[in-house]
Amino acid sequence: MKHKHLYLLLLISILPFLTSCDLSTGNNQTEFSSKKDQIRETFLDSLMQEMTLEEKIGQTVLFSAGWNVTGPTLDENYIIYLRDGMLGAIFNMHSAKGSKEFQKIAVEETRLGIPLLFGYDVIHGHKTIFPISLGEAASWDMEMIEKASRIAAEEASSTGINWTFAPMVDIARDPRWGRVSEGAGEDVYLGVQVAKARVQGFQGNDLSKYNTILACAKHYAAYGAPIAGRDYNTVDMSERELRTTYLPPFKAAVDAGVSTFMTAFNELNGVPASGNKFLLTDILREEWGFEGFVVTDYTSINEMIPHGFSKDEKQAGEQAINAGVDMDMQGGIFLRNLETLLAEGKVSEKRINDAARSILDMKYQLGLFEDPYRYIDTQREKETLSKPKYLEAARDMARKSMVLLKNDNQLLPLSKNKKIALIGPLAKDDREIIGSWAAQGDRTGTAISVFEGIDDLLGSDKNIIYAKGCEINDDDQSNFKQAVLAAKQADVVVMVMGESHQMSGEAASRTNLDLPGVQKELIAEIKKTGKPLVIILMNGRPLTLEYENKVADAILEAWWSGTMGGAAIADLLYGEYNPSGKLPITFPRNVGQIPIYYNAKNTGRPYNPVLPHNTYWSRYLDVDNSPLYPFGYGLSYTSFEYTDLILNKQEYSFDEDINIRVTLSNTGKYDGEEVVQLYVQDLVGNVTRPLKELKGFEKVYLKSSESQLVSFTINSDDLAFYNLDMSFKAEAGEFKVFVGTNSDDVLESKFILK
Ligand code: BGC
Repeated sequence: MKHKHLYLLLLISILPFLTSCDLSTGNNQTEFSSKKDQIRETFLDSLMQEMTLEEKIGQTVLFSAGWNVTGPTLDENYIIYLRDGMLGAIFNMHSAKGSKEFQKIAVEETRLGIPLLFGYDVIHGHKTIFPISLGEAASWDMEMIEKASRIAAEEASSTGINWTFAPMVDIARDPRWGRVSEGAGEDVYLGVQVAKARVQGFQGNDLSKYNTILACAKHYAAYGAPIAGRDYNTVDMSERELRTTYLPPFKAAVDAGVSTFMTAFNELNGVPASGNKFLLTDILREEWGFEGFVVTDYTSINEMIPHGFSKDEKQAGEQAINAGVDMDMQGGIFLRNLETLLAEGKVSEKRINDAARSILDMKYQLGLFEDPYRYIDTQREKETLSKPKYLEAARDMARKSMVLLKNDNQLLPLSKNKKIALIGPLAKDDREIIGSWAAQGDRTGTAISVFEGIDDLLGSDKNIIYAKGCEINDDDQSNFKQAVLAAKQADVVVMVMGESHQMSGEAASRTNLDLPGVQKELIAEIKKTGKPLVIILMNGRPLTLEYENKVADAILEAWWSGTMGGAAIADLLYGEYNPSGKLPITFPRNVGQIPIYYNAKNTGRPYNPVLPHNTYWSRYLDVDNSPLYPFGYGLSYTSFEYTDLILNKQEYSFDEDINIRVTLSNTGKYDGEEVVQLYVQDLVGNVTRPLKELKGFEKVYLKSSESQLVSFTINSDDLAFYNLDMSFKAEAGEFKVFVGTNSDDVLESKFILK
């Protein structure tokens, strides 16, 4: 058996250290880790020495498994590459049985028996689907986000997967771009916290455990800023903006120990990300010290040809590997060209060695050389998927992710004895609710629909009158009549509206962010009945909701909330849970305002509606500058009051802590959670500074009538920015500090940094 040879290598690597290190005492922990590192290095050195050039190149090759009705398949050519040791990793394999079959070939039939990596897009859950990532971010609950990723890793790892292509940490400020659904929204600080939590959740503290998997920070970089919000489009931005807004979550992922990075599809300032040495080597490896490996996005090396950056595949391969790419996803370019490129002196042997070694290193850290089947266990797979406690966690996460956008006259929560008309194309849906990029999420009826959730909660459907009314996206109004009839018989109308799961996500850019099809027309008909109207939204991005905001009494943004979504929505509707989500991204009034985000700058002619002569000011003639719902916004069934914003001093030196305190009181009649948000403004800078920047937040639970002191501590490091000379430091001067319930509704104070 080939793998025996690897065991032998492992043993030889360990031997010199066995006598020199007493592993039993706690005092020797540092010595122990350094010995472990040495053992790893020795093993990798010996393995690399035994490998042929072809085998090293093989490690840099990643191909997708296909699926037929009965199970996984591998393209005939890939099977040949696999047997020849020319395939380092497979993705889209997602069953223990399938992984075992291919791992067996790698381990038993190749010359050296090097095990495969198995990658997959485990984005918001694996089998148990959590809310889409944008929804999870709306919870502002990092513990819960980490837990959701942990559960996803538990499930995925039981099916043989040991590498997820997540988290996506692209900051996105343009909701026309469908992939805003996959990230944490528009803000740098929130994006950084979410990136850390998700990496930690997937990878845990020990990669070699059977239930931890490699994470992958993607898409590096600035993929979330395509011109006009069109997916894959050009990105052009200053280095200052890149470093200020788009890079920090990637850096945070590196600091959290992320194992892999994925390049983006876009070009950045004229250079495609997969051929971008500035990004992949200068910043990622040299500045940040990243030690994992870089995989491309799907065929993105090949795509450097249509980008107009490479004349042919060979040149593309040369540019990618020399820029710092280690693994080629699906393009086959490294496989076909690296040997020739080396022979022609266009790529160094060292570069190929570095790429192969960084991949082998991750396999080592996963423990695959010790046990290539560590993640493959059909029994564990059976016992792990969709465990009741995972479903409970998904329900909890879903409840926390939903954002109450409007609630006039406290229409919500509903009392259980009200007769409701449940109307809309998504009211009985158990497919779309799973959302985009849903791994093994089941779209065949196992997810809880809103109807089912309410029915379960009420214990019967006798108070529900259902009518679909219309489809998500066509122009058929023939079922309006029946919906109006249902509304007329009810005390209150609950309409479940939104997008289909293909309308947000990859390659799903839209220029019109209204509810699609005839959903608005249906709302207008129902409105005529005069019945109190609740709208529940299921979607993957900010929509333009001016009309809905005008006519509805209550609006709940429920996103695509996953397997347990309908149950969570019912919990909120009937007050079993008090909404606590806050928007991680601004909702515009109309598409013309896009991009619109809270931490914009002032301009030289800031518009002030209270001034009399308002002609030559920065504004639109036809719409207010303000968004419909600002960043950080979200209501609760209770009310919170902020008082006494106090700083411990007025002036601070650069090495002093700045302590900021506020009193939060629950002044309403429900217990509930509030996300207390801290923003700062640097009033004058050697480069201009935004009007507000989030610098901290805390999610606080208060019983009705309770108060609590909430405090934040920041220092000059938190005030640093990229100066005119690109040095990253704070500047002395005056600062405003804001604390409040959203980016627009805050108490204000100030301090001086000297
Ligand atoms: C997406 C990536 C994804 C990859 C593999 C690409 O189309 O951009 O986010 O990880 O496919 O499925």
